[in-house]
Amino acid sequence: MSATIMNGKEVAAQVKSELKQEVAKLNREYVQPGLAVLLVGNHPASETYVKAKEKAAAEIGIRSFLIRYPETVSQAELLHRVEQLNQDPQVHGILVQLPLPKHIHVQTVIDTIDPQKDVDGFHPLNIGSMQVGKEALLPCTPFGILQLLKQYKVDLQGKHAVIVGHSHIVGRPMATLLLNENATVSVCHIYTQNLKEMTRMADILIVAVGKKHLITSDMVKPGAVVVDVGINREEKRIFGDCDFESIKDIASYITPVPGGVGPMTISMLLHNTLLAARTQVKELATV
Ligand code: GUN
Repeated sequence: MSATIMNGKEVAAQVKSELKQEVAKLNREYVQPGLAVLLVGNHPASETYVKAKEKAAAEIGIRSFLIRYPETVSQAELLHRVEQLNQDPQVHGILVQLPLPKHIHVQTVIDTIDPQKDVDGFHPLNIGSMQVGKEALLPCTPFGILQLLKQYKVDLQGKHAVIVGHSHIVGRPMATLLLNENATVSVCHIYTQNLKEMTRMADILIVAVGKKHLITSDMVKPGAVVVDVGINREEKRIFGDCDFESIKDIASYITPVPGGVGPMTISMLLHNTLLAARTQVKELATV
């Protein structure tokens, strides 16, 4: 039996069309949602991601402001710009594309973003709110994965979710969101011993490592739900962290690469930008 493919591109398009109507509603209230994207240097993958984010924003009527800096920009200059954007009423969301050059302390930059404009959901205040189950701007990739799983009616409660990768962008917030859904969660990473023993226990396997085909079919329990967050470029082709071709014959659901998690991430960024705009407009109305 072959797995059901979880079509992120299709679900993301559906989300975008709903968000487009929300933008029109905000426009009728004389609000034009705006997203500022800071891009430092010219990291090829970052260039691609930022282009995709700008295109998606334009499609649904969100204004985006791309602010570019050379690799040599000082941390002070970057922080100063973030502080200006925090005060700018035309900007409802601020995204600093990662990675940043080594001389810039990433956490200091994230800490400077107004939590209400933190559409990446990386600010400690948003992470804390997510942890206690309060409304928050949620990190786009794990949030998008959760929406995709819900769209395909994947049952999470009591299921063993095994996450491979403990990054701040994906693995850790994914664990929190799945715990909030009452899944039993294990987080594996580069120091995990006997990875295969762990992954074979997964009802839901989420892989965000950045290593082409790290997960092979012998590491997957028959009937598991497999979510591949990997984007590994090789001679203009993109490969996931999972060996899709062999795993699709034993999994019950699987995401493709490309066309799985990536488009969902972008749609959640747009969702967060609208949520941020609505929150900020509401606050203005009550002061
Ligand atoms: N680099 C890779 N993924 C992301 C993301 O989700 N947000 C930002 N800001 N940078 C990234």
